[in-house]
Amino acid sequence: MPAVQATDAGLLCYCRAGFEPELAAELTQRAAEAGVAGHARTQRGSGHVVFAVADSDGPGDAGAAAAALSQALPWRELIFARQKLVLLAELRDIDPRDRIAPILDRLQGLPAFGELWVEHPDTDAGKPLAGLARSFGNALRPALRKAGLLSAREDARRVRLHVFLLEGNHLLLAAGDPGDSAPWPLGIPRLRMHAEAPSRSALKLEEALLVLLDGDERARLLQPGMRAADLGAAPGGWSWVLARQGLQVTAIDNGPLRQHLLDSGRVEHLRADGFAWQPARALDWMVCDMVEQPRRVAERMATWLREGWCRHAIFNLKLPMKKRWQETQAALEAFVEQAQQPLALRARQLYHDREEITVFASVLRNRDRPRGDRS
Ligand SMILES: C[S@@+](CC[C@H](N)C(=O)[O-])C[C@H]1O[C@@H](n2cnc3c(N)ncnc32)[C@H](O)[C@@H]1O
Repeated sequence: MPAVQATDAGLLCYCRAGFEPELAAELTQRAAEAGVAGHARTQRGSGHVVFAVADSDGPGDAGAAAAALSQALPWRELIFARQKLVLLAELRDIDPRDRIAPILDRLQGLPAFGELWVEHPDTDAGKPLAGLARSFGNALRPALRKAGLLSAREDARRVRLHVFLLEGNHLLLAAGDPGDSAPWPLGIPRLRMHAEAPSRSALKLEEALLVLLDGDERARLLQPGMRAADLGAAPGGWSWVLARQGLQVTAIDNGPLRQHLLDSGRVEHLRADGFAWQPARALDWMVCDMVEQPRRVAERMATWLREGWCRHAIFNLKLPMKKRWQETQAALEAFVEQAQQPLALRARQLYHDREEITVFASVLRNRDRPRGDRS
């Protein structure tokens, strides 16, 4: 990753507006665990958090500390961050007639970036900047190329330059590692509601599969013929997503499922209590969208993994009104403890999640323990 001016070194993360305190608490705790000193800067409703690393051992060290922190906090492991970038500089009070010169000035000497993304916060205040972001990107791109700061053609393997517009005269410059950041502008995967999807909830499971699993895991863990249970399935969005992947689904809900789903032959509907039902034999997957107390859901999910009723699970945990970061951690810790299995565990507040997070848990066999997963 590029060298960083010491005064601005840190991480820039995007989140759902209103969840800045949770993201700030998460980054602060994870940085402390990684042995990196610093502090979170944010404003409620701003849709982003900067974690500034302390420059304790002289100039230059903060840049190295930011790079080390970024490595210690992989994007896939963060819960409240939609995007994770390394902050390069903050530019304030720039002249709206020439925003390009100060940017080129700050980036001077860095290796060429592979792409430029000009973004804005996904907030009520930030959305009106979308037009400026587009036109400014079109003006900045050729200037960066001329200065040797952007590759002649888009190169998705190289570090990406992010210009994060906060106001017309205030912006952040940041670098995105293509192997360790969201591959979607604003950190939001653009998913379109399919005409046949029984509910909008389908988008949530589609997003979870994109965000919580990598491409290799999606290919390996979701194969035609695999068997799954969907707890709290009605009207059938999640079952539909799994059935489209070729899985055979048992859908548990007292409510009705859409008929076309049942007609597909891939989904069987059982009217039963999702907290009591268990499969007659081990399944590959269990997904759960029952809206209930998070501790109760976490406990039931742990039982499934502990008893070997499934190997992989995706489920939602509702966030409480208060102490959301602490409660999130407590629910996940209780889940891991009660599952009594070595697990790959990732959780994220998805774009399609509101007051909840979505969790992916997978029982690890020795040969498929990925690096970086917290067991
Ligand atoms: C948010 S909806 C699920 C939407 C679904 N995932 C979809 O994609 O269409 C929650 C569902 O959980 C069901 N539910 C809640 N408690 C349940 C329980 N104890 N057993 C079975 N289903 C339950 C409700 O009937 C409701 O249909």
